[in-house]
Parts: sequence; C-alpha cells; structure tokens
Amino acid sequence: MPLWSGRFEGTMSDAMRGLNTSLAVDIRLLPYDLQVNRVWAQELQRIGVLAKQECEAIDKGLSIIAEEWRTIPARGGPEAGLWGGGASRRLGEGVSPSRGSRPAQGATPEGDCAMDEDVHSLVERRLTECCGPAGAKIHTGRSRNDQVMTDLRLYLKDVITQLRHSVRGCVAAVCDHADRHTKTIMPGYTHLQQAQPIALAHYLLSLAASLKEDDGRLADALARLDACPLGSGAIAGSAYPIDRERVAKALGFARATTNSIAAVSMRDECLEVASACSILMTHLSRYAEDFILWSTREFGFVTFADAVTTGSSMMPQKKNPDAMELIRGKTARVIGQMQTLFTLVKGLPLAYARDLQEDKPALFDLLDQTALCLAVFTEAIAGASFHADRMRAALDANLYATELADYLVKKGLPFREAHGIVGTLVRTALETRCNLRDLPLTELKKASPLFSENVMTCFDPAAALARRNLIGGTGPESVAQQLTTCRAWLR
Ligand code: ARG
Repeated sequence: MPLWSGRFEGTMSDAMRGLNTSLAVDIRLLPYDLQVNRVWAQELQRIGVLAKQECEAIDKGLSIIAEEWRTIPARGGPEAGLWGGGASRRLGEGVSPSRGSRPAQGATPEGDCAMDEDVHSLVERRLTECCGPAGAKIHTGRSRNDQVMTDLRLYLKDVITQLRHSVRGCVAAVCDHADRHTKTIMPGYTHLQQAQPIALAHYLLSLAASLKEDDGRLADALARLDACPLGSGAIAGSAYPIDRERVAKALGFARATTNSIAAVSMRDECLEVASACSILMTHLSRYAEDFILWSTREFGFVTFADAVTTGSSMMPQKKNPDAMELIRGKTARVIGQMQTLFTLVKGLPLAYARDLQEDKPALFDLLDQTALCLAVFTEAIAGASFHADRMRAALDANLYATELADYLVKKGLPFREAHGIVGTLVRTALETRCNLRDLPLTELKKASPLFSENVMTCFDPAAALARRNLIGGTGPESVAQQLTTCRAWLR
C-alpha cells in the first residue's frame, strides 16, 4: 500500500508503477534514512508526540531493518561498499522494485515491497510492521521532501570524504614518480609541437596541482552542504516545535538550513558536486590523452603495467592503454550526468516537483564513475614506467630557440629583434636540413655579431631548466619546492 492511498479508490497501473518507483536507485540511501528516522523519533519524543516506549520500539525496529540490510550485502548492503552496492550495479537496468530491496528474511511479502515507491516508503512500512502504532507516528511533522534531502546530504558527506581520500592517494602516486624524475628532461609541448624542455617531475606536478584544486572544490561543496534540511517539511516547515539545530547536530551536520522552500527545491549540492567531479574527470581525461600518446611506439615515453592494459582479440602483439581510454570515455558520461542535473532543475517551478527524483540516478552514477576512474587512474600511474632515455632522445635542437633569443637579450638586444634573428636562423637550418645546434658559429655571427663561442651553452637542456627557478617554474629548485609543498599538503 502506498503511503498516500487514503484518498484513492483505484490502484496504480503497472506501467505507472514502473515510472513511479525509485527504489532500485535510492535503496543505497537506506543507512542514512535509518539514521534520519532515529533522530526524528528522538525529537518527536522530546516534543511529546512519541512516548518513551514508542521511541524505544522505533529504535529497535530501525535496528531490525539495519540488520536485514546488513544480511543482504549482495543487494547493496554496506559490505558491497558505497560504490558497488547491488542496487547501484543495477542502475539503469530496469530492475523491478521487488527485487531491489526485499530483505532476506522477515515478514516482507514480495507484493508489499513492490508497492514501496522509494526507500523512505520501504523504511516506514517495515517500521510499522515491526512496531505497529509507534511506526505509524514516525512521519509526523515531516515530508519525504525534506527527508530525501537530508538522506542525500548525509550520503554526499560520506562520499565526498571518500573521494577526497582517493584524490590524495592519486596525488601521492604522482609525487612518488615526480620524486624519481626531478632530473628527467623531456620536451614540453604546446599545440602538440615541441615547445621548451621541461622536467618530467614538473609535468607530473602539474597533475598534482590540478588534483589539489579538485580536492579544494570538493571540500568547498562539502562545507556548503553541511546544513540539515530536516524540519523543512514539504515546503512550509514543520508545524511541530522541532528544534532544528538540535536535529542538525544529532545528525552530524554543522547547522540547519535557513529556508524551508530553498531546502526542498534546490539541488545546488548535487550541481556543485557534479561540477567538481566533471572538472576532476576532465583533468584525468587530459592526462589520459597525453599518456595514451606517450605510450605509442612513436613516443615511447611511458609503459603501463599489465594490470591496467588489455590485448587485442585479433592482433597478438598489441597492448592497449584501455584504462586511459576508458577514463577519457567515462569523462563524457560524467559530464553528461552533470548536464542531466542542470537540465532537471533549469526552469523547474518551486518548490518540490517529482522531476527531482531523477537527480539520484544521475548523481549516483557520476559519483560511482568518478570513484572508479580515480582508483584505476591511480593504479595506472603507480604502476607506470616513464622512460627518461626516450624523452631525452626526443628533444629537438630547435627546442632551444628561446634560449638563443634570451642569449641575445642578455647581450643587450630587444627581445623582438632577438626573436627575429633566431627565426631566420631556424629557417636557415631548415633549408640546409640541419637543426639550430648544427649551424656553424660563422653562420650565427652572420645573423648577429653578438653570438660568440659560449653560445653552445644555450643547447644544454639542464641549463635551460636551471634558468627557470622562479615560483612555479621548471627549474630544479622550483620543482623541489613544489614537491615539498605537495608532500606537506598530503600530510
Ligand atoms: N523519492 C522521492 C525523490 O527522490 C522522494 C520525495 C517524494 N516526495 C513526494 N512529494 N512525492 O524525490
């Protein structure tokens, strides 16, 4: 029986039931829903709606439901993990609600479960089955509109904490490689053309820097969503003298939300987290793209471990960087889910509308995918071998054109003039099928009398790096500083 059956004569059609239910998706909120129910019951007792024994009965009932949940790990219990719960694995597979949530034992006829619209209905039904009249009082003064947002925010608090932990793990893996490659010099690319020599450690620390900002975005989102919507009711706030600050504290929130309409209407926390995940995934995707290129025979800069690569069903020689390709592909999916969320709320009239139920499939999926990608990306980085010899061999002598121009600047020439002179030298080199370094000094002197013997120092990549020891530069001191900062951040 649905929670609202009183004013209805007829029953819901099967097709409508399929459209209406969200249980297969929101079952993962169950542990949070139990927590919310427990605190709500205590508050109802405090204001005299529930007697002490009723509150105790509810508490016991909630424990029974928690136990039922615990003994069905394959169906999404905590053992299956927040990420890989049975319900989440079936996301989008059109699972019937009856299979999504039915506890292993207990007085839970299949038919009843199929009538549960969502996880809140399921919990209230089981609670009423377990403790009778006391269970029937639990929904006093609240609505599923504030309940679902409270569940969801509690869930997000856990998930964001886990995600941030994973981000840290990835930064640590990146730092380990950076440590080993402070002296490895590689061509830095812009427009995918060799631009300037850089330290591999510097390149890797650019990834660490981006991930640190991702962590910051998640932390910001977490701080903002740390407000409890419970007590907002359907739209107008609860009609009972609920102490919302007390409820918020009991649930581990920093504070209560300040406006009941905003609390049930907005999905800002979903949008923020989705945006943070999309940006994070975009970072992974760009580095994945570079690493795919680097793993080609032509580049040969990196080799991935077997654990994160696959072979070809047809070509025996192949080792494909599938982890990176899949991560690049999953990024499209995460961004797509973020768009689903924005599209969902855009133009939606205030306050709650049922459209909002569609927030969870999108949000859960993008969180699952981001967590999975982060884990595999970290594994791939940790097990990768970067090839310093190949990187050095790839350094094109024309890479030092900027150094040559700077050489002339040091001797008093305006940069633009120096740029022009070196440009003509590059052209001469190309015409004579050699590179800048092979041009004889006489040729250089023809272009500018300022060139002398010591010009050859311009072609030393280590010297080029050493000139860039300013904050954020690729110089060895700067890179060492970046590493130290990163390590300190990890602690
Ligand atoms: N399952 C619903 C959701 O996720 C819960 C809120 C239902 N509220 C309502 N008025 N029908 O949005």
